[in-house]
Amino acid sequence: MEHKTDFLVVGSGLAGMSYALKVAEFGSVILLSKTTLDETNTALAQGGIASVTYAPDNLEKHVQDTLIAGDGLCNEKIVRIVVNEAPEQIQSLIEWGALFDKAPDGKFDLNREGGHSERRILHYKDSTGAEIMRALLARVKSHPNITIMEKSFALDLITQHHLGRPVFRGNPDIECYGAYTYDIEHNRVDTILSKVTMLATGGSGYIYQTTTNPPIATGDGIAMAYRAKAYVENVEFYQFHPTSLYNPGERPSFLISEAVRGLGGILKTQDGAEFMNKYDPRGSLASRDIVARAIDTEMKNRGEDFVLLDCTHIDPENFEAHFPNIYKKCLSIGYDMHKVPIPVTPAVHYFCGGVRTDENGQTTIRNLYASGEVACTGLHGANRLASNSLLEALVFSNRAAIDSTRKISALKFQEGILPWNDEGTRNPDEMVLITQSTKELQEIMTNYVGIVRTNARMKRALDRIYILYRETEDLYSQSKVSVKLCELRNAIKVAYLIVKHARQRKESRGLHYNLDYPKKNRVV
Ligand code: FAD
Ligand code: SIN
Repeated sequence: MEHKTDFLVVGSGLAGMSYALKVAEFGSVILLSKTTLDETNTALAQGGIASVTYAPDNLEKHVQDTLIAGDGLCNEKIVRIVVNEAPEQIQSLIEWGALFDKAPDGKFDLNREGGHSERRILHYKDSTGAEIMRALLARVKSHPNITIMEKSFALDLITQHHLGRPVFRGNPDIECYGAYTYDIEHNRVDTILSKVTMLATGGSGYIYQTTTNPPIATGDGIAMAYRAKAYVENVEFYQFHPTSLYNPGERPSFLISEAVRGLGGILKTQDGAEFMNKYDPRGSLASRDIVARAIDTEMKNRGEDFVLLDCTHIDPENFEAHFPNIYKKCLSIGYDMHKVPIPVTPAVHYFCGGVRTDENGQTTIRNLYASGEVACTGLHGANRLASNSLLEALVFSNRAAIDSTRKISALKFQEGILPWNDEGTRNPDEMVLITQSTKELQEIMTNYVGIVRTNARMKRALDRIYILYRETEDLYSQSKVSVKLCELRNAIKVAYLIVKHARQRKESRGLHYNLDYPKKNRVV
């Protein structure tokens, strides 16, 4: 089946929905989700969204905190854009109906997180993302110009390649004409032609064994964009959140927000000793790369699977007012946080790299934009500052909306795009080939491309990934579309890109720590 729309938006998290709402005033929109609209990383966000609200905080402090966390690789111009535009964009979220907690004096209640020199995190209890999703979903569902397609899996971006013309990375004329999508319920591949396409597919945490991300996070957007010959950047920087609840077997891992440490939670080893001051003067509130590496070092040195997060000294009422869900969750598995420290361990959390964009969210492919976790705008550099990602999605979706709506009247639908061709293929009948390769990939990435890396581990990872790549490409070329197979194929592509970029970086910086090059190079 063929559809036509002015704007195709792939992804229903904050990046996709906020973009859709803004461009829907200028044309027709199709909004895709590969599962249901509400299954997103956005929905799980806890701590909140960073923005300067009251003195003594100011924009320069937020800029400097972001630059310090990014360890020399942030694009300062982009950092200043995001920080300056944050207050106005938060206001648009509030106008869409999202609620943020207020103190009894009517002012916003601001949380603090690692790497922030001031309290500046707007939040709704410990379920900020769910609150944002609630507000945006209501708007999106009632907008007459937005057609929602759930269980619709984007397979590949359509470019000149699908007109039979050769396309090379670096070619400045590549154009995006829409996407091939798999309608899961009708078991059919559709062609969606669009004038503008927004990639808002989120992260890739599921390429690792232990992650805070939901199962949708398989890196589809990055893989699709790379196959279409877009540039990707900074993909060696995968952020581990220092504190996921240690609860073996639970997937995704339940996050213990960094704001818990902002309220006074202290990290300790299992014998009750504090350790973070050995690693950074900011202690438990150092930036994430430092805290996650410190925990990893302590666990490895002591041969233990977790460290403790002690909140027993925090006023119980205040704690539960801020973190009702975290408190309930821990209680449900036997930990009363008022009485006992809880076990925590780092987990894969956020992809700092992604599809390269300019300051308007435009990728290196014409009429293809990217926003949110799939994008690399230059904001995060080598390590994202906590609660800057919801903000980045909001600011860049707005910028992309302004840029793309300016162009839309001059754009036309591309003619001559052929329907998806799967002649000679058959349904994959041995699912074990796919599930086993997925597990192998997750093991490889976890064991060899984790918080601490070495040249030998990464070489081994690359060799193993190459075997999985060959096997999976063979299977893919013989098979009809299957979501699990496509996700595996995408995850392999992203894993390959991470290892390739990590091997090229002959230094340790931010989230990339290589024992063979433990020092930083000078940034030129
Ligand atoms: P997502 O919200 O993940 O949405 C991705 C969308 O893309 C989904 O709708 C999915 O169905 C769709 N999609 C993916 N692939 C395809 C495909 N092939 N076809 C069709 N659709 C597809 N950040 C903060 O700033 N503050 C926080 O407090 C915070 N807390 C977090 C807590 C947790 C547990 C996690 C996991 C993340 C947290 N983050 C936080 C990070 C932040 O939530 C994410 O980076 C951000 O929400 C990403 O938004 P997004 O719109 O880019 O992607
Ligand atoms: C958290 O609440 O700790 C997550 C915040 C983030 O990922 O930015």
